[in-house]
Amino acid sequence: MLRIGLIGTGTVGGGVIAIIEQKKAEYREKLGIDLELACICAKTDEEVAPYKAKGYTVSTDADAMIANPDIDVLVELAGGYNMPRKWILAALNAGKHVVTANKALLAKHGHEIFPLAASKGLHVLFEAAVGGGIPIIRSLQEGLVGSTVESLSCIINGTCNYILSRMAQEGLDFDTVLKDAQRLGFAEADPTFDIEGIDSAHKTALLASLCSGHRVDFEKIHVTGISKITAQDIAIAKELGCTIKLLGIYNRDGDRVDARVHPCFVPQNHLLSSVNRVLNAVYLNCDNLGETLQTGAGAGRMPTASAVVADLVSLARSIDTGKRAALPMGWFNVENSATLVPISETSARYYFRITSRDERGVLAKITGILAENSISIETIIQKDVNDPGNVSIVVITEKVQDCRASKAIDAINALPEIVENSQVIRFLA
Ligand code: HSE
Repeated sequence: MLRIGLIGTGTVGGGVIAIIEQKKAEYREKLGIDLELACICAKTDEEVAPYKAKGYTVSTDADAMIANPDIDVLVELAGGYNMPRKWILAALNAGKHVVTANKALLAKHGHEIFPLAASKGLHVLFEAAVGGGIPIIRSLQEGLVGSTVESLSCIINGTCNYILSRMAQEGLDFDTVLKDAQRLGFAEADPTFDIEGIDSAHKTALLASLCSGHRVDFEKIHVTGISKITAQDIAIAKELGCTIKLLGIYNRDGDRVDARVHPCFVPQNHLLSSVNRVLNAVYLNCDNLGETLQTGAGAGRMPTASAVVADLVSLARSIDTGKRAALPMGWFNVENSATLVPISETSARYYFRITSRDERGVLAKITGILAENSISIETIIQKDVNDPGNVSIVVITEKVQDCRASKAIDAINALPEIVENSQVIRFLA
């Protein structure tokens, strides 16, 4: 029997309780395991009252629940940093396994949590932390071990994907869709973590760490969000046979790791381009397997809860058989940090949208700067904008190193005819 101490009765916590109630008998009968909700803990009496009424043991004292020897695993679904960090470290020190959906905590404090768990032979499972219900963590840890992941590109923020999809499908601007997404509950009241790419960076750091076997520090990876993507960028992308997606990217580069988060032009024939609205997807290129795409609901009560319960079932089976040790995650310590490829050394085809006064000679100045920086132009288009006297000049470059693209765009932005900072977006391929 796996005796579960659960902290958090919110959206995901409530879903976990519901799934355990729904599937408990089936697990016992088909898998021979018994998931026992031994204690349900939340901040207030009001939050735990419905569960108390159903006969569960409840608590508002997380520390006492963690210290209780009758708990085998702590399920942390409260969110945040400080208290969950304290609870998880306390649970591990008390010899209990941990299941959590808290990607922000793991990205920030994984270097404390995983080595401690490894030193004690305990499991820390976090399937729900990346891609909601998509079993991508287990795939990387188990299903894909016959291959090496050479590269990974993922859509792992449903809020951003929802906004970009609606902008593309309805021709709307960013602010209009964001407000509507907030009204419909697809975006938080404070959407910063999502739209500025921070949530994607947490998840990308975890995936890149699993792929590389080295700790990827999310604070060191390049992050650009989607708040500056305009309806015009989306329309031009469409004309060029692309969609714009916010991607988390991992590439193996010898002994180094290229991990980053930024919007990308994704060709419409790429598997990721048709992943729309709140769907998440992880596209992998592996040496032996080749290409694979895993897609599904990246957030929400039941999809996320289903990943948490899958971790609990896996844990119960490991403990019951006594055969499966915890997967070694001790490599997630600071001494084993990945050497990251600086963004300036990465290469891509680039989209520049330059807004300029409509004056003679400006195009020659722009192409001159590109030539000075050895940047080859693939396409150049001039577009009228709804702004008399100004034009948009769209340049698609051939593959170029980021440092040269940045130097050129800085020089272009400094031209007196340029009316606003230019838009810069990389192509996925
Ligand atoms: N805020 C996240 C998203 C869901 O929009 O995808 C939780 O990871």
